[in-house]
Amino acid sequence: MVEPTAAQLSVDGTVLDLEVERSVEGNDGIAIPRLLADTGHVTIDPGFMNTAACESSITYIDGEAGTLRYRGYPIAQLASQSTFLEVAHLLIHGELPSRAELEALAERVARHMQVHDGIKNFLRAFPRDAQPMAILSGAISALQTFYPDSVGRNVEEVERASVLLLAKTATVIAYLQRRSQGGDYIEPHKSGTDYVEEFLRLTFAPQDGAVEVDPKICRAMDLLLILHADHEQNCSTSTVRIVGSSQATMYASVAAGVSALSGPLHGGANEAALHMFDEIKASGDTVDTFVAKVKDKSEGARLMGFGHRVYKSYDPRGAEVKKVADEVLRELGGNVELFDMAQRLEEIALSDEYFIERKLYPNVDFYTGLLYKAMGFPPSMFTPLFALGRMPGWIAHWREALTDPRTKIGRPRQIYTGAQERAYVPMDARG
Ligand code: ACO
Repeated sequence: MVEPTAAQLSVDGTVLDLEVERSVEGNDGIAIPRLLADTGHVTIDPGFMNTAACESSITYIDGEAGTLRYRGYPIAQLASQSTFLEVAHLLIHGELPSRAELEALAERVARHMQVHDGIKNFLRAFPRDAQPMAILSGAISALQTFYPDSVGRNVEEVERASVLLLAKTATVIAYLQRRSQGGDYIEPHKSGTDYVEEFLRLTFAPQDGAVEVDPKICRAMDLLLILHADHEQNCSTSTVRIVGSSQATMYASVAAGVSALSGPLHGGANEAALHMFDEIKASGDTVDTFVAKVKDKSEGARLMGFGHRVYKSYDPRGAEVKKVADEVLRELGGNVELFDMAQRLEEIALSDEYFIERKLYPNVDFYTGLLYKAMGFPPSMFTPLFALGRMPGWIAHWREALTDPRTKIGRPRQIYTGAQERAYVPMDARG
């Protein structure tokens, strides 16, 4: 929505009237389409702290209030009443599905969970202890070579790619876990399965494929996937959108998103948080000593799973994870000692001036690692699980950018700070 002039900028005597784009909720944006042409200046905003890269109608966050909504629906309502596939439909298509639409999606996804032998061989080519996010990114990029009828930009092919990515990423992640544990693959049932239950069966069943998946674990997994399903223009989603802006395929764009997610400041924080709890326990440090180290900053320690670029209050996803962690860990006999330590850390941090003045609260990653561990996932699989959850968001954003007439290839400017023009110095003349 563009409204008439509402802001002015004066640069070296040139006054620019700037239009303000109104949001439905949240920050309005000052549009600067003619800044460079009219003033010869660009803006600089490291980390995009003040820059909106697009308009989007998928997810709304109010970081001060701790609000998160997918397509208008509050995350707590989706967490308590919805399922991951239903949320995937909501994010991708904009509305909650009818019963028939949801059943059709579930059936279509189930039918496509099998992966080509080429992908199985690809996964076998790496050491069993290889970093799974690196393989996952490669596997997702490679998937498109087996499904050339899903790389086009027309409606059918985009829909096919969306279903294939939801279906096959689950199987690839299950296989990555099986290989890391020394096992071999088992085949997906191709029909009549629940997405999350089938993912857990493919991950944990013995080689004969028969296993009763605990409904509590199934529900906790479903919830974790819902909580990770989208988070507007975060690092990996922005990556997906910028790669997609070059008209790269959905697979290539999502594979790049997986790479962005792998960093410890983004999706890797869940694993880092668990390592931190383990290390505190092993070092014999008290929780108070560790918090003092974090505040001191000299050792570079951060309280992993704390802080967020957008949330300046409790991450609403973190609150949901904490509730389910409390239930599941106590019931499954997971690592209650570490959970208690995490809660103590949270308690101290939330009442400490350092964290209060910087508005640092637990984010979604603070408790997820404990939960994943109790379910039987090794730490290296935590970030791939995040990727599985984030898949509908990446797909929805890629599709939104595809159909947005304002999408242009992402190509930032820079402030050049290097040498000015100088003459080439022949080798013998160099000092
Ligand atoms: N522990 C201790 N101090 C912190 C933490 C933390 N976790 N996070 C931020 N701070 C401090 C910084 O040292 C800085 O202090 P200063 O003002 O004295 O210099 C201040 O808070 C602001 O921090 P920035 O790094 O500038 O904030 P930014 O918005 O750039 O970073 C981030 C956000 C990366 C999430 C950061 O809070 C962090 O590193 N957290 C730990 C990693 C983590 O949990 N990442 C998961 C994010 S959620 C997700 O991806 C799903």
